[in-house]
Amino acid sequence: MQNTNKKPTVCSFFSGGGLLDLGFKDNFNIIWANEFNPEAAKSYRVNIGDHIVVDDINEIAKDMNKIPNADIYIGGPPCIDFSTNGANRGEKGVNGQLTWTYFNIIKSKRPKVFVMENVVGLAQKHKGTLERLKHSFNEIGYDVQVKTLNSAEFGTPQQRKRVFIIGFRNDLAIFFEFPTGNARLATVKDAFNGLSSPQTIKARDKVLGITPNHTATWTNPSPERIKDLYVNPRPNQRVGLKRLEWDKPSYTLTAHIAKDGREFVHPAEDRRISVRESLRIMGVPDSYIIPSEIPLNQQYTLVGNGVAYQVAKALAVAIKVQLTNVNKQITEVSSLTGYKAKKVKAEQLSFDDLLFA
Ligand SMILES: C[S@@+](CC[C@H](N)C(=O)[O-])C[C@H]1O[C@@H](n2cnc3c(N)ncnc32)[C@H](O)[C@@H]1O
Repeated sequence: MQNTNKKPTVCSFFSGGGLLDLGFKDNFNIIWANEFNPEAAKSYRVNIGDHIVVDDINEIAKDMNKIPNADIYIGGPPCIDFSTNGANRGEKGVNGQLTWTYFNIIKSKRPKVFVMENVVGLAQKHKGTLERLKHSFNEIGYDVQVKTLNSAEFGTPQQRKRVFIIGFRNDLAIFFEFPTGNARLATVKDAFNGLSSPQTIKARDKVLGITPNHTATWTNPSPERIKDLYVNPRPNQRVGLKRLEWDKPSYTLTAHIAKDGREFVHPAEDRRISVRESLRIMGVPDSYIIPSEIPLNQQYTLVGNGVAYQVAKALAVAIKVQLTNVNKQITEVSSLTGYKAKKVKAEQLSFDDLLFA
């Protein structure tokens, strides 16, 4: 007899600090993860689990036996080659090629389900790559659904559009339906609720802060530079000064905040937002704490690279429900009529079910 309480297993790739995994953690058993940046992996280890392996995936993939089998593989290969702001080399770039490394792993290991996340550039300027990926996944036996989800529609206080490619192995006969977000728009004011001014620290101090990860160096940019950029905006500068607005969701948080926070200035104070504020803007619960030993710029990078928490959670629950319900029907029906499965509709779940199931 099938144990229906057993959580499906997950392997996580390109895991960063584990924000995507955070959404999967409650409903799935994450057994293995990989990330080559040791600093991001430190945060993953503390917040998600010590099953993370620090290595280059290209090295690991030389011997597929090093990667455990699991029901689901999840991962967001680096987006810089598909991003309109980034290097934009597409699938031929060193980072872009990792999308195909991930494809080859799925081809070799054949999980029941895979999730691939990327920037919208993959569905726009690099649409050709997306089409090739879809076609290749179809060829190796996956039914593939693609959708751009905006985190603001799922209750994250941020407009963040990301492309999700979800594949279910054909033999499961499940046609995945994406969850639809219909949440009330959450604002920056909602996000920063209960946070007072951050604790001032020196640039190289490794301090967690009284409220964890809520510190400010008042540099990068300094208040003087912020004022100067207001008075003398530089028209040729690729990225200008931008201030968050209290009554709107934040615009998209990117890893660029690590280099220069002038794009992400606090609504009322002349400083870039703190790491805690950036986590709040990703919808991440305060129980997620980034170890203070990680350099501040790396802390910002791992947040800016992440998947919005409510989107990760909504996808995890939708996959769990559709995978496990249909599995049950397959078990029930197959003994009588051979192989057949019914479709389970994602709309059968209310948004509250998705967030809190
Ligand atoms: C877009 S981020 C993924 C973030 C993650 N999904 C999250 O929600 O927190 C991509 C990650 O891939 C990692 N990465 C890039 N090249 C890699 C490689 N060759 N092997 C393993 N990880 C790599 C980067 O360090 C980065 O953390």
